[in-house]
Amino acid sequence: MPVSQTCAATESETEGCQPTMPMKSHTSKPRSGKRSMGVKTVMKALKKGGASRGRKPNQSSKGFVWCARGVQRLPKFGTATVKSKQSLFVTPVRMELTKVAKLNLKVVAPSSSCSRRVSKNGRKRKSPDFCGDRSFQSWSSIRVFSATTRTSDKPSQRGIWDFANQVRYSCDYIDACKKFNQKPGRFLNPLAGEFFSGLPSGWTSANAGAVNKEKFFKQFPDMQPNANQGSKIGVIAMFAGCGGLELGLSRYLYPTAYVEKSDYCRKILQLRMDEGLLHRAEIHPDVCTFDASKSSADGAGGGFPCQGVSTASIQKGLKDRRTQLVTHIFRVFDTLPSQHQRFLYFENVKAILGKKQSMRSLFNYIVQETSGRGLTLHWARISLSNVGLAAHRDRVFFFGAKPNDPIVKALRVEPLASLLEKSSVWNELNKVPQHLWLSEEQPCDHNERMGVLGNLVVPACARLGACVALGMAISNAPAP
Ligand SMILES: C[S@@+](CC[C@H](N)C(=O)[O-])C[C@H]1O[C@@H](n2cnc3c(N)ncnc32)[C@H](O)[C@@H]1O
Repeated sequence: MPVSQTCAATESETEGCQPTMPMKSHTSKPRSGKRSMGVKTVMKALKKGGASRGRKPNQSSKGFVWCARGVQRLPKFGTATVKSKQSLFVTPVRMELTKVAKLNLKVVAPSSSCSRRVSKNGRKRKSPDFCGDRSFQSWSSIRVFSATTRTSDKPSQRGIWDFANQVRYSCDYIDACKKFNQKPGRFLNPLAGEFFSGLPSGWTSANAGAVNKEKFFKQFPDMQPNANQGSKIGVIAMFAGCGGLELGLSRYLYPTAYVEKSDYCRKILQLRMDEGLLHRAEIHPDVCTFDASKSSADGAGGGFPCQGVSTASIQKGLKDRRTQLVTHIFRVFDTLPSQHQRFLYFENVKAILGKKQSMRSLFNYIVQETSGRGLTLHWARISLSNVGLAAHRDRVFFFGAKPNDPIVKALRVEPLASLLEKSSVWNELNKVPQHLWLSEEQPCDHNERMGVLGNLVVPACARLGACVALGMAISNAPAP
């Protein structure tokens, strides 16, 4: 029985949308407040003719020089090429994506008569639970960032923002616990994590048959065995995790090999391949030793570790040994037979576009290395709120492609408008799964699953990022 209902956020979620050609400029006002600083700076730079602070404006209004020293943040969408060793020429793409539907939740009593509220071993569940109402389509004031392995007694810097803590510290949840004289649960159920990550239920489980195939193929039609594979690019999927990024990019890419260090993730990848849910390919354990010289792939990429980039760390960038693993994407690309060296892709957190020196160096490194191989880098920063969830988990998707490369031109890039329309419903379930979200204990495999979800690239964000950035790659290419 519902005891209380979280209040729906009332602010307008529509920032304006330009759902047709991503390359067109427009002059919508930047949002006010701290978060709009980057946009303002870029707009100022554009008005001036585009140089970063401390430099003379020296470029056309279509782009600006972005230097290794300076304070300017990078735009959300853009293209970069090398200007000199220390500077890049950045072409920002002025567009704003609609923020779409939210999902309301309510808290239900622990003694609800609902049969699903009794666990498998017959024990009554102790804490009040969240429950989605079929009639609701929007998410409440609880903001979703990422799902992390476990919650602590005190919220940590990251913990305050992570999903489990936000649920746990929800006033509605705390009030309901008090009302029913119950101890609040602390650990998030992976099924809830999967739902809010836009993954099919059971995807991170290491059990066979955990995923409903019919629902899966409905959500990811490009994974169907009869889907048009001909227009896709074969890639080495590095840092594959449980395959979230590759699921999101499944319209465009198919892995000819996966590279992933975690035993648990490799088990998931293998199982989902055996079930026919992932493209079948060999799995290798370490990007540092992977050799692609016999591969038929036309590129390489992946979501490299974000610990040295995220603002939850001190952002050492390329000085962080985990961030340094990005170098292996280029190394592996170079080991591909020369005629196959055609495509690169990367993913990381939004801080990579930030103004901190270490971030600028990392970004510079990526552009220099990409351009050095004859590819132009295009990127799009996508928030969960652009794909159906009222949340601020932003990720940046980079694609490096040769201008006019037929394999890129053959990609069936979705019309942005229709993709945004599809995004108005979060996850294929269309409603919040009713199960215990928070519990006092965390079974061993739940811990593993939450760890995988903490690293996950939300497929819907990747799909939108690819649509925007590959759209730029194709429309930006000079005529042959
Ligand atoms: C940000 S996560 C990638 C998430 C993944 N793209 C997804 O969507 O689930 C980074 C991944 O890199 C993996 N990793 C870290 N070091 C590695 C290495 N040396 N070789 C292979 N994988 C590695 C981690 O285990 C982790 O799963």
